[in-house]
Amino acid sequence: MSTVDRPDTFERSLAHWAEQGRAGMESFYALATEDYRQMVAARDWAADFRDVARDGRVRALDVACGSGKFPAELMRRGLADALGGVRIDVDLLDPSAFSLAEARSVLGPPFVPVAEHEVRLQDLDPVHSGFDATWATHALYAIPPSELDDGMARMASALRPGGFGAVVQATTSSHYLRFAELFRAAHAPDATPFSSVEQVAASLEACGVTPSVQEIRYTVSGSDRTAVEGFLQRCVFDDSVPLDRMESGGPLGDYLAGCRGPDGYRFVQEVRILTWRAA
Ligand SMILES: C[S@@+](CC[C@H](N)C(=O)[O-])C[C@H]1O[C@@H](n2cnc3c(N)ncnc32)[C@H](O)[C@@H]1O
Repeated sequence: MSTVDRPDTFERSLAHWAEQGRAGMESFYALATEDYRQMVAARDWAADFRDVARDGRVRALDVACGSGKFPAELMRRGLADALGGVRIDVDLLDPSAFSLAEARSVLGPPFVPVAEHEVRLQDLDPVHSGFDATWATHALYAIPPSELDDGMARMASALRPGGFGAVVQATTSSHYLRFAELFRAAHAPDATPFSSVEQVAASLEACGVTPSVQEIRYTVSGSDRTAVEGFLQRCVFDDSVPLDRMESGGPLGDYLAGCRGPDGYRFVQEVRILTWRAA
């Protein structure tokens, strides 16, 4: 396929967040589950939720819910016990019907699925508001940078006064963004670039939100070449370029050579957790 008729970033994301992309999703999370372990371990999320609970309940909006890895990891680490009976009623938002169904299927105590919005964040109807909490975890990369101000304004205004907001997303120095940029330059120069956490933070500032920032660094590693290939292809929603070709030279090949060691690949992730309380 030439770069001219290659679907753009959002269309490729949607095509992969679908039943035919299940195998790719599973190979991606063979490595990327580490993202959710790290972000959940980095913070006392139970305290965040307890602080905004009202009448034993948190009304929450999970933005770009994907397959529900964030709530699943919170559950695995004992969120229900830590909340001592407080339940979290969740509205799931995602333009992919597949993602909504996957996320719904993993939710268990303290999470209760209550509604679904099959829309892009930029299209969220402001009538859905008054939430006690909202989060977007590794979720906003496929929102074009030019549409982030609109998306973040909608996410921020979905909160009630005093509500808790969180975004977890990679910096431009992380594997996700570096690899995406190098891949784009080599194989998809016309594609809309991924949005970074720096851009998300600027869009929050633009709508009057100054988040607190916590940075985490860790490595994601894989020794099996098939698993690494699946992970890298899913990072850019593009299965058309095999690992051998990615490795074959130029800035992309140099970057991958720098990630390779005697035990396989190690990708450095630099991720920020942005949190705020609504005015
Ligand atoms: C990596 S997943 C998010 C992971 C998720 N937070 C979790 O806990 O597993 C990214 C999701 O973003 C969704 N997405 C892509 N563009 C979007 C947009 N403009 N607005 C909202 N969601 C979007 C995709 O359909 C996909 O389900």
